[in-house]
Amino acid sequence: MQDDYQKTLEEAQTKIGACADATGLKAIEREYTGKDGVVQALLASIPSLPPEERRGVGQGANQLKQAVLEALAGRESELAQVSLAAERKGEGYDPTLPPAAVQRGSLHPVTMVMREVEDLFQSMGYSVLDGPEVELDYYNFEALNFPPDHPAREEYDTFWCDREGKLLLRTHTSPVQIRTLERLKPPIRAIVPGRVFRHEELDASHEHTFHQVEGLVVDEGVTVGHLTGTLKSFLRELFQRDLDVRLRPGYFPFVEPGFEFDIRCPFCEDGCRVCSKTTWVEFCGCGMVHPNVLRAGDVDPEKYTGFAFGFGLDRLVMLRYGIDDIRHFMGGDLRFLEQF
Ligand code: DAH
Repeated sequence: MQDDYQKTLEEAQTKIGACADATGLKAIEREYTGKDGVVQALLASIPSLPPEERRGVGQGANQLKQAVLEALAGRESELAQVSLAAERKGEGYDPTLPPAAVQRGSLHPVTMVMREVEDLFQSMGYSVLDGPEVELDYYNFEALNFPPDHPAREEYDTFWCDREGKLLLRTHTSPVQIRTLERLKPPIRAIVPGRVFRHEELDASHEHTFHQVEGLVVDEGVTVGHLTGTLKSFLRELFQRDLDVRLRPGYFPFVEPGFEFDIRCPFCEDGCRVCSKTTWVEFCGCGMVHPNVLRAGDVDPEKYTGFAFGFGLDRLVMLRYGIDDIRHFMGGDLRFLEQF
């Protein structure tokens, strides 16, 4: 009996010694120690053996398995040594082979649409401005005419950055309105694309981090007509056709009057999932800049008027490409990103 094991082991060792690659070794491993392998067959035969032989066969099978695994490991490290030595001598190295293909990245869909929006507004004479993402309460709320305990702040729950409640992650791009008024004199025509943050329950249309584009125009004699005309021209370029629009009254402390600006659903004529069967899609909040906001920026409201608007860029990208879940944008999943 013992001789049989010895013979089987020697056979295995010979095969292992003659094997020169990892795939071959794997196959030998399966042949001996796999589910349908030699060792398993020995173990499976035990119940049908006379009791006095069982123990010996069990031990023999286990020893065989150990010895085969050891021989495999030994051969594997031998092969590794050999290939390392060859590599050190420069064998197998062909400097004329082309390099491995470099994986090329692509722009994020939000970046692509953001650039398109910037181009369109620049072509209408707008500057593209920037502001800090970690913002003072003063700019995010107070100077925008949100008094300290005003309920309108409830709409904008955010992440606070200090214990005193002065520093926060901006909840919208509107604070840059004040920073712009402080820095530039009218006439002003600017957009501010940027990242904004909210402490929200996350779902298919809510993310903690998303993107907005703010617009601000301040000059003598600016009216609601300029506001709607501008947004209509912008949308015509973006969707390459005229879309019906409508204004509804809307409340934002930093504009008076304030509006919700809706567009006719770009996808349907009589109601679909995107427009929740209403044929209208909310596009942005907008209005005439509140006199208190102009004053906070040291601009004389008796002399100047202005309009402002703010729209969600992510939503626009979703409309543009038919994306149904906003969480894809920050998810970092290459299967999503590689489609753009
Ligand atoms: N900042 C507002 C928000 O995030 C959107 C907005 C509404 C911006 C009206 C404006 C505006 O400039 O005039 O909900």
